[in-house]
Amino acid sequence: MSTRPTILVFDSGLGGLTVLREIAATRPDAHYVYVADDDFFPYGHHSEEAIITRVVPLIGELIHAHGPDLVVIACNTASTLVMSHLRTAYDVPFVGTVPAIKPACAQSRTRRVSVLGTKGTVKREYTRALIRDFGQGCEVTLVGSPELASLAERALYGEEVSDSEILAELVPCFVGDPDDETARTDTIVLACTHYPLLLDRLVKLAPWPVDWIDPAPAIARRVSDLLGPQVAARDEAGAELVFTSRRPHDLSRVLQPYFGGRVPA
Ligand code: DGL
Repeated sequence: MSTRPTILVFDSGLGGLTVLREIAATRPDAHYVYVADDDFFPYGHHSEEAIITRVVPLIGELIHAHGPDLVVIACNTASTLVMSHLRTAYDVPFVGTVPAIKPACAQSRTRRVSVLGTKGTVKREYTRALIRDFGQGCEVTLVGSPELASLAERALYGEEVSDSEILAELVPCFVGDPDDETARTDTIVLACTHYPLLLDRLVKLAPWPVDWIDPAPAIARRVSDLLGPQVAARDEAGAELVFTSRRPHDLSRVLQPYFGGRVPA
């Protein structure tokens, strides 16, 4: 591996920034290229075949253009489909983002867990298999949200998003007796990388308190393990932000914290 590793972080839009934020904090020595496939956003509305056909060659072009040492697919809707295809097609190490069902079911005290993801992610055989293999007898409620990723993007762009719009997507996650804290959902898996962008509002709007499981810290640890020990000082060279639509972006100041303070060019 080169002295300063380049990490390419990929998502359908800006949700992967919640994963990048954790990786950049864990590995300040790396150089970051963040790619948002905004031309095809939202992935949750596309068929499985359309996503595979879109993402596999696109990642090949990005590897060719940026020469990353490691690629993070910071998108559940894509990772639950494309990881084996990518590993077969390209030599670069990949880290994916899949619903954190195992830790959620391991920690739930009421044995009621909800998985909040895109409509695509909750339909996947991959997700169903995670529940079969790691559900540990919990009652797992799958909630496919049609709009929450788009609402998170709108909020990040500074647009007004009402409480009622968010609540409509959130309420199906809350299952059981609202008045009995031993017999209701106590853990919600954030199975779309966009949702932690709205975490403050999710917490505020929740009908009762729950634990929210964001996989980003675990992904950052995995990335760091694969990279090995830090070999360079903090990267001061900025970071790259690429939109597949090639539209110019003016979000640098808003986005800077997600890049560990670097200014995305
Ligand atoms: N951020 C993506 C995920 O983790 C999905 C958003 C979308 O494009 O629908 O699933």
